[in-house]
Order: sequence, then C-alpha cells, then structure tokens
Amino acid sequence: MVNISVIGASGLVGSNVLRAASELNLPVEGSSLSQKSGLKQLDITDYSQLKNYIQNTKPETIVNCAGIVGKEACNKEPGMAVAVNKTAVEYLSRLCIENGIKLFHLSTVAVHDGKKQTPYVEEDLPTLIDGNWYNITKVGAENFALEVPSAVILRVGDTYGYGINPEHIGGSIFKWAYETLKKGNNVPAFKGLRTNQTLLSDVGNVVMHLISEGYEGILNIGGNTIEVAEFFEKMCMSFNLPGNIELKDVPSNYQANRELGLTKMNLLGIKMHDVQEGLESLIQYYRI
Ligand SMILES: NC(=O)c1ccc[n+]([C@@H]2O[C@H](COP(=O)([O-])OP(=O)(O)OC[C@H]3O[C@@H](n4cnc5c(N)ncnc54)[C@H](OP(=O)(O)O)[C@@H]3O)[C@@H](O)[C@H]2O)c1
Repeated sequence: MVNISVIGASGLVGSNVLRAASELNLPVEGSSLSQKSGLKQLDITDYSQLKNYIQNTKPETIVNCAGIVGKEACNKEPGMAVAVNKTAVEYLSRLCIENGIKLFHLSTVAVHDGKKQTPYVEEDLPTLIDGNWYNITKVGAENFALEVPSAVILRVGDTYGYGINPEHIGGSIFKWAYETLKKGNNVPAFKGLRTNQTLLSDVGNVVMHLISEGYEGILNIGGNTIEVAEFFEKMCMSFNLPGNIELKDVPSNYQANRELGLTKMNLLGIKMHDVQEGLESLIQYYRI
C-alpha cells in the first residue's frame, strides 16, 4: 500500500515533494504524464485511468503537483489547461471524497488579480482575470479541491531551484534571469516590485511537515519577500553572473501584486530559507 501519491512527480514542485518524502523513508509513489524512470505513467485527464490508479494504489494522501503552469503556456493551449488544471482536479476531488483520501493541491498566487495594495492573505478570495487561462483554471481547481473534507490548498508564488536534477532549473523567472545574466545580457526589473521567492526544496519539506501535522485548509507558503531587482542582484553575486539589471519604472496602469502574506505559515512555525541562504545552497549545482 502506498501512503503518499505524488501526481506530477517529474515536475519542479512534484520532484521536490517526492524527494522530501523519500528522504523521510515514507511509502511514496510518484507519477507523471510521460513514462519516466521510477515513476508510474498516469494521465489525470482520463477519469477511468485515474480511478483505476487510485483503486489499485489506495493512497492515504494525494499531493497534486500536476499542471500546465503559467499564463503563457495555458493561453497557448487553453483546452489542455482546462483539462489538466481544472477538470482533472474535479475528477481527483470526486475520487478523494469517494475513497476518503486526503488531498494536497498545489495552487498559486496567480489565483489573485494583483490589484490589492497589501499582501494577499488566505482569506482573500480568488478573482478571475479575463483571458488569463492560468488564473481561470487554477481558480476553478481550488473550488473543486475545497469540496474534499480536510483538503489542503497551498498557494505559492515565485520559485527558484531545481527539480529532478540540477539541469532542471526553475521556476520560469529564475530560469530566464539565470540564463540571460549568464550570457552577459541585461534583465529588466520593475522598481519596487516585490515577490516571495521560494526555494523549491523547501516546498517539498513543507508539504511533508503539513502532512505529519494534519494541517487542513488554505495556506500561503513562501520564502522571504524581496524586490525582484534585488533578487536578480543576489543571483549575479552568488553565481558570478556577468549580466546586469536594468531598472524600469512601473507603468502607472500596472497591477501585479504577487506578494503573499505569510503570517499563518510563520505562526505554524514553518521556516523557509531566506534568499541568500537558498542561493548559497544552489551554488554547488550551478557554478561553472
Ligand atoms: N513552479 C512554480 O514556480 C510554481 C509556483 C506556484 C505554483 N505552482 C503550482 O505547482 C504545481 C506544479 O508546478 P510545476 O512548476 O512543478 O510544474 P511542471 O514543472 O511544469 O510539472 C508539471 C507536472 O505535471 C505533469 N502533468 C502534466 N499534464 C499531466 C496530465 N495530463 N496527467 C498527469 N500529469 C500531468 C507533468 O508530467 P510530465 O513531466 O510527464 O509531462 C509534470 O510532472 C502547479 O499546480 C502550479 O500551478 C508552481
């Protein structure tokens, strides 16, 4: 019997959740859409496949890290985004309810429209953004996941680190900035724009902590809040990257608050690496 099933275990987040569970010697199984070594093949958009998988595996907890991530990817293929990010979560939620399984669902700060002037807290309701299929599908998914008794919804902002191996770099902003700065090019950064920068390995460890503590409900998780420009500067210094940061004024109509309030996480005693520590921990993998 598998205790924890990690769906989307080849991804940036899922591979770190799988690794954290394995390091604790927990009975865990990972799956991914494509056939990958050590992982089960599972397409969560196929209801009967998902049902058979759950009936055969009988997990106590499912951690759903599958997804089509980011506005660009989702808007390129909205049908796929709806199927994976939303409809599959409807299937998963139904099967978790029928089989008494605890659901951990990975969500995102992108369920918010960015117009709030202060950090988003757990009680802030998601807001739909017209034409943004990442936002739309992730908001829909949260609604299905919330129907599962004792479900956990983790909202995460920007991430940095690696996934299945050190070549698997992410999240998208970290990867883009790293590759651009490494080539000696400039990266633009809006003055004063602040985000939570979260070390990917911390996400895996936090999921394991919350499973062991029996947490229920919505929780924002993240590393410390930092201006994007400062984060890029720290990247340059830590990795010795030759590129520069080009400060830009924030356009007056720009509404993009991506800051998550972390009071609840802090009250739970959860500690994340601060950015400097996190980058230091990655240097051994990235320094040429
Ligand atoms: N990365 C971030 O910075 C970030 C930030 C906030 C929230 N999140 C949330 O965290 C979750 C994971 O993100 P990620 O960055 O780890 O994604 P990712 O690296 O793109 O990985 C996506 C995972 O989903 C799997 N997958 C895709 N379609 C599937 C399907 N039809 N059936 C089963 N599995 C499928 C992929 O399998 P294959 O590899 O086989 O295709 C892969 O394992 C998402 O819900 C995302 O919204 C991520």
